[in-house]
Amino acid sequence: MSIYEFAMSIARLAGEKIREQLSHELVIETKSNPNDLVTNMDKATEAFLVAEITKHYPDHQIIGEEGHGKTITSTDGYLWVIDPIDGTLNFVHQQQNFAISIGIFHNGEKYAGIVYDVIDDKMYHAQAGQGAYLNDRPLPMLKETQLATSIISMNPNWLTKDYTYEMYAPIIRTARSARSYGSAALDFAYVALGIIDSYITLRLHPWDFSGGMIIAEEVGAVVTNQLGDKLDPLHSNSILVANSSLHKEILEQYLEPHHTALESIHKGTFSNR
Ligand code: IPD
Ligand code: CA
Ligand code: CA
Ligand code: CA
Repeated sequence: MSIYEFAMSIARLAGEKIREQLSHELVIETKSNPNDLVTNMDKATEAFLVAEITKHYPDHQIIGEEGHGKTITSTDGYLWVIDPIDGTLNFVHQQQNFAISIGIFHNGEKYAGIVYDVIDDKMYHAQAGQGAYLNDRPLPMLKETQLATSIISMNPNWLTKDYTYEMYAPIIRTARSARSYGSAALDFAYVALGIIDSYITLRLHPWDFSGGMIIAEEVGAVVTNQLGDKLDPLHSNSILVANSSLHKEILEQYLEPHHTALESIHKGTFSNR
């Protein structure tokens, strides 16, 4: 079994465990603020994935949202970047629309990405250079779109702050429509699937974007921060993912006019993970 197949197999097993536990009462705690939740299942899923990876590949490095590998600063060898439950608020409130996200890098280069929609049992996956899949179905390359006929995914919270409203409202105003799904990993998967044309957000951590980025890039999506720079698996960043013509249109016509403001946001916010 390749590392890629192994990653899918443990994501499936972890998903089964979550589905089995759905009727059990959750233990819910808050993290940085009252709306930043973590449950016993987030922690148990990370612990399960880390234990499985470590058992099979003891020399691989692992970063997980719920605490594993917080001191890792090198991308040498294999690096797994894991979000055990992406969309915890959906998990708690809806018991659906959440995913297990895994990005794997080898010496800093993309190796494989996995986003597993646990309730719908949909496995989005890609090995770098080998195309992206939904379960066994190969995903076609993305079509180019223009903003005026595109659907954009953005968390509406970004439109409630003055500085982001100015940057983002014109994008949403010009777009055909907007959506908000509450799971960054699924947002990337939906861009890869072609059911939304772009996902825009000001702040994601490596575990939110690593798996989805690798999948989306396999179908021709362009994934950068909002200054047009490449993302890396050790640093949080802003996100602009879209098919290539739409990425260019949004970056050049809507974000570059705010370059100075964006640059200072990046300097202040993303100096560390
Ligand atoms: C969150 C989700 C959400 C995004 C947040 C993330 P979590 O991840 O991906 O869609 O807007 O920025 O933190 O905490 O549910 O794993
Ligand atoms: Ca979280
Ligand atoms: Ca997340
Ligand atoms: Ca999470």
